Amino acid sequence: MHPAAPDSRLAPGGARLARRIGPLCVAPIGLGCMNLSHAYGAPPPVEQAERLLLQAVDAGVNLFDTAALYGFGDNETLVGRVLKPHRQQITLASKGGMAGQRQDGVMKRVIDGRPEAIQRNCEDSLRRLGTDVIDLYYLHRWDKRVPIEDSVGAMARLVEAGKVRALGLSEVSAATLRRAHAVHPIAAVQTEYSLWTRNPEIAVLDACREIGAALVAFSPLARAFLTGKLLSIDALDAKDLRRTMPRFAAPAYAANLALLPGMAAVAAEADCSLAQAALAWLLARGAHVVPIPGTTQAAHLRENVAAAEVSLSADQLARMDAAVNRFKVSGPRYSPATQAEIDTEEFVD
Ligand SMILES: NC(=O)c1ccc[n+]([C@@H]2O[C@H](COP(=O)([O-])OP(=O)(O)OC[C@H]3O[C@@H](n4cnc5c(N)ncnc54)[C@H](OP(=O)(O)O)[C@@H]3O)[C@@H](O)[C@H]2O)c1
Repeated sequence: MHPAAPDSRLAPGGARLARRIGPLCVAPIGLGCMNLSHAYGAPPPVEQAERLLLQAVDAGVNLFDTAALYGFGDNETLVGRVLKPHRQQITLASKGGMAGQRQDGVMKRVIDGRPEAIQRNCEDSLRRLGTDVIDLYYLHRWDKRVPIEDSVGAMARLVEAGKVRALGLSEVSAATLRRAHAVHPIAAVQTEYSLWTRNPEIAVLDACREIGAALVAFSPLARAFLTGKLLSIDALDAKDLRRTMPRFAAPAYAANLALLPGMAAVAAEADCSLAQAALAWLLARGAHVVPIPGTTQAAHLRENVAAAEVSLSADQLARMDAAVNRFKVSGPRYSPATQAEIDTEEFVD
């Protein structure tokens, strides 16, 4: 178990529903900030991104997730600047070990888990975030050329130096998690988890529960698929990441869309949106699960936050399980090249 006592960073009225991440207590739904700077085509205008972050604070969100990678630093700069007046009330999470590097005049994404790279990434993140300490610092990807013990050892030294409060890992297997946890308590594993990506159910969900870590669920809305609003990828920006993902390609995406009516029936019965049903399903998977949906839209933000109030019966949860699951979803989640970079357990059917 994580040794430190929880602090009181609770959303207004959120105490009943608060979830624990190592020494931190957070509202049940966090905010993924990535798409304010990166990933799904052109980012929104900066004024919209600034407003969204402040609207999130007003809505009771107190876990904000960024990374050195997002916008090659721009996202940390944005999040740090806008949330500075609220710094004491929020949990700021960022990630290193994968960042932008200029190569031949072009910025490239580079995974580098060597201790010196992690130290440098963290210093850069602190500067961009405009803070003395990052509450939750993740290794964004395990660099398989570097023993996990060495990367986590460097992160442990950041804790000792007071630059980081708690440690996390992203997209790792249960075996890697246990090795890392033997070096320093791991407060959270951030990995993709949603109705259509069940990999954590192989081992990581249980391993997190066992060691007292949170499972921070990224892409909890399946990058918009589970909202029922993304009916085709034809209109997406040429640079939208989803264009590289097999599940969004034709004909897999059409087959996947055909799964949504089963889920929509449950959402209608529960008087909530599909997005809310998808988030409520995740919250019901364990008290240690913390979804971090990303959005650029205030209306979506409010809708997502309100999912914490949606309660689904055991029968409704089972019907959602049956509607969208690994046996029914078409296509792998990543391209082979991206898949090779991660360490998570995968179902073999
Ligand atoms: N550790 C990692 O390797 C990793 C990888 C990916 C993501 N992440 C983290 O996870 C966070 C969230 O993941 P994500 O952004 O990839 O996926 P997501 O949260 O599953 O989905 C985001 C997409 O859904 C749309 N959306 C959100 N709420 C909606 C609603 N209520 N109704 C309709 N559409 C809605 C958003 O568009 P609008 O802007 O129009 O709302 C956006 O296109 C990221 O911000 C990042 O912090 C981490």
